[in-house]
Amino acid sequence: MIIISGASKGIGKYLLDKFNNEGQKVIGLFNSTLPKTNTELFQHVNILEEDQIIKFVKDNLIQLKDIILINCAGTNYNSMSHKFDYNEWKKVFDVNTHGTFLLIKHLLPIMRDQKYGRIINFASVVPQIGTMGTAAYAGSKSALWGITKVIAKENASKGITINSLNLGYFNIGMISEVPENVLNSIIEMIPKKELGDPINILNAINFLINSDYITGTAIDINGGLF
Ligand SMILES: NC(=O)c1ccc[n+]([C@@H]2O[C@H](COP(=O)([O-])OP(=O)(O)OC[C@H]3O[C@@H](n4cnc5c(N)ncnc54)[C@H](OP(=O)(O)O)[C@@H]3O)[C@@H](O)[C@H]2O)c1
Repeated sequence: MIIISGASKGIGKYLLDKFNNEGQKVIGLFNSTLPKTNTELFQHVNILEEDQIIKFVKDNLIQLKDIILINCAGTNYNSMSHKFDYNEWKKVFDVNTHGTFLLIKHLLPIMRDQKYGRIINFASVVPQIGTMGTAAYAGSKSALWGITKVIAKENASKGITINSLNLGYFNIGMISEVPENVLNSIIEMIPKKELGDPINILNAINFLINSDYITGTAIDINGGLF
């Protein structure tokens, strides 16, 4: 069973539709937005609410076999560090780091019992290149590298792999909030001179699903940015 958090829109929705079209068993998690298509595939889970995650696991226990967890839910808030609103700072870490960890935590016991699991975390090129204004986003995403490494070691002997994708800038999802002039300068900065197509993300995920000896690491998908 493939579980995708942040499946209501953007990259998560793209992945859900692709896996569903391939005939794979998939559950998409949404928080605030239930998409208009494939509604039967979605369940509501706010990943900040541990009770909701526990209920999700309990309600779906029978169908949770051979779990592939794709942690796509994420959020962003930009500000220069000396002006950063602390509540916004905490929200970014809550979703990107704490919520991601909670989902992993509550699915790991099933994976360990079944001696199989694949976990794919969504990190970013931003902490690698140090984009100004992104201290919270960069901090929350780079935290996933450490979490990934530790969980990999804790579970390597249990048939579970966990890896991160360090994404550059894609032509889908949160990039739509970037003003046009900023977007143009981002594209200019990318050696490939274009935003990424999410098929590259799907290809990397399939590669990680099919690999039992790659764990605790990350794949850079960024058009040559880093
Ligand atoms: N797009 C890019 O170029 C890019 C680049 C680097 C990294 N990434 C990473 O890739 C992932 C997907 O990005 P995207 O561009 O597709 O983002 P997006 O379109 O903004 O979608 C974000 C998703 O996260 C979900 N989410 C947010 N808070 C949540 C919560 N508390 N509980 C459950 N779900 C929550 C949203 O669900 P609701 O709408 O239902 O609230 C939504 O489905 C993110 O982790 C992002 O950081 C994206």
